[in-house]
Amino acid sequence: MKVAIIGQGYVGLTISAFAAEHFDVVGFDSNQLIVDQLNQGISHIEGVKNSLLVKRVKSGRYKATTRGSEIAGSNIVVIAVPTPLTKERNPDLSYIESACKTIGQNLSAPALVINESTSFPGTLRGFIKPAIEKYSLAPLEHMYAISPERVDPGRSDFNQRNTPRLYSGLTREAASKTRDFYSKFCENLIEVSSPEVAEAAKLFENTFRQVNIALVNEFAQIAHTLGISVYETLDAANTKPYGFMKFTPSAGVGGHCIPVDPTYLAAVAEEHGAPATFIRRANEVNLEMSEYIVRRVVEDNGGNLQGRRVLVVGVAYKPNVADVRETAAKLVIEHLRSKGAVVSWHDDVVGNWKGESSAPLQGADIAVVVTKHDSVDEKKILASAPYVFDTTGKVSGAKGL
Ligand SMILES: NC(=O)c1ccc[n+]([C@@H]2O[C@H](COP(=O)([O-])OP(=O)(O)OC[C@H]3O[C@@H](n4cnc5c(N)ncnc54)[C@H](O)[C@@H]3O)[C@@H](O)[C@H]2O)c1
Repeated sequence: MKVAIIGQGYVGLTISAFAAEHFDVVGFDSNQLIVDQLNQGISHIEGVKNSLLVKRVKSGRYKATTRGSEIAGSNIVVIAVPTPLTKERNPDLSYIESACKTIGQNLSAPALVINESTSFPGTLRGFIKPAIEKYSLAPLEHMYAISPERVDPGRSDFNQRNTPRLYSGLTREAASKTRDFYSKFCENLIEVSSPEVAEAAKLFENTFRQVNIALVNEFAQIAHTLGISVYETLDAANTKPYGFMKFTPSAGVGGHCIPVDPTYLAAVAEEHGAPATFIRRANEVNLEMSEYIVRRVVEDNGGNLQGRRVLVVGVAYKPNVADVRETAAKLVIEHLRSKGAVVSWHDDVVGNWKGESSAPLQGADIAVVVTKHDSVDEKKILASAPYVFDTTGKVSGAKGL
């Protein structure tokens, strides 16, 4: 069995590493640098270790490529390309379209095409299948299925093997072959009645997180106004053994999923005339958090940040990963700079970002902790500036939400 995986990022490379234990895997990616590194056994994501990649490359069962022709002859093709938002914050399916073009132009025999990229209900049936058919050089009866990815990069307790996986096919045969494929490296497979249910479930999972994070971010502001501790209140509420799930406040949401996926759901809802006001407002509340935090820092520092040396601690969107996509740190830095602060940032996990390098964790007038990696010492954060504002709730003794 030959498997082609289109896109070798967080999702595609993770699947490739697992699948190559059982199948011959071609990892197709449009980025030559990533492909060259992967073929040398150098992984660019946290979840796949170099040692595993070296093993897969040496076994001859994994190869990365930028050449579309190398996916020819695949029995299974998995799509794992980005699904971001356009500048106008609408769903951007251009990467999926390009993946469909690669598939259409290079497959000359029927295959099982599985989409793992997150998108709105109807994408498999109404976009991917017609796009592949449009680009195919000859009419082919491919099978189509969906299995939305749930990987949480940097997490060790849940992985490909033990995270339950949803799937559905456009036909019975597609569903059954999809189950056969994933059952090699996933212990818990759950079939749903249509691809649209699987697509919607993925979006709803992330919308649930987005809305609850917005709620707790709003509550943090209410608690501060009332002069009570948000953290103690959340811990108190969390003693209820049912009907409550604890979320913690932050500088906002980041990553490729939570700030993006709910907008896919809102867009498809509105296109069909259903309101998505709650989802839209949750997005705004999370985006506004960075401004609120800077306002608090300004208030605590005599109402003026002009010329003050401010160090933002942690610019990755979450702890222990180097991923800066949609990070709330970007907005925090922008708001601080708009107030005249001289801003640098410290994050040795990220290292370099937007043409700037991680600054030493010392010598600032003000430190604002946006993300706290486990490797960063709490005492060093406290010693880095006379005033420290912590948005994570992990630096005891600092000012905070
Ligand atoms: N990262 C996560 O935690 C996560 C979790 C669940 C679902 N998802 C979803 O999975 C999909 C992929 O996300 P990701 O985090 O792996 O993205 P990523 O940015 O880490 O990787 C995508 C890769 O695809 C490549 N690429 C882009 N266009 C291509 C094309 N036309 N052909 C071949 N390669 C192409 C890029 O070079 C990149 O290496 C998205 O829809 C995302 O929403 C991501």
